[in-house]
Amino acid sequence: KRLVVLVSGSGTNLQALLDEIHRTGVTAYGAEIVAVGADRDGIEGLARAELAGLPTFVCRVKDFGSRGEWDTALAEAVSAFQPDLVVSAGFMKIVGKEFLARFGGRFVNTHPALLPSFPGAHGVRDALAYGAKVTGCTVHFVDDGVDTGPIIAQGVVEVRDEDDESALHERIKEVERRLLVEVVGRLARNGHRIEGRKVVIQ
Ligand code: GRF
Repeated sequence: KRLVVLVSGSGTNLQALLDEIHRTGVTAYGAEIVAVGADRDGIEGLARAELAGLPTFVCRVKDFGSRGEWDTALAEAVSAFQPDLVVSAGFMKIVGKEFLARFGGRFVNTHPALLPSFPGAHGVRDALAYGAKVTGCTVHFVDDGVDTGPIIAQGVVEVRDEDDESALHERIKEVERRLLVEVVGRLARNGHRIEGRKVVIQ
């Protein structure tokens, strides 16, 4: 299977996928990353992709006349690589109906909180501020909401009294990377279907 990964930041989730595929081999893992896209330049995630010899592309909202034109451009940039599965690994933009028309049902996102709790761009900070005793990460299919799509897998992480946002996020990312690698591999090796809010992986 062909994967396109979308990033906006450090790309450690992307790196975890790259390392696992390198370790197990494309055939055994069931997928290879064919391109990496971003919504901004100059991020470590793109540097990781280039180091791995992968094609990259950048679609910046400000380069387009409207959000809809950006969404279409992103969909076309991804389509050019003919992916079977698109993975948002820290991609910090909400895609629109054009992108979902093409990739809905095969577009996976990872979120650093236990959805439906703490959706949005500050899930780690919000859980900490709320005083949650456990939080974690969620891998889900993207639908037309914000972090509202059908859940595929979740991992739990304890919140410690001494945690600040970055310490907690780092601990979440340790779980998140493993969960994402495991889920993407299973989706790649088996078929899946979505029945309402239920995800069935054969
Ligand atoms: C991940 O925790 C992701 O869930 C969140 O931002 C982080 C991205 O980390 N949206 P990285 O860019 O994969 O290192």
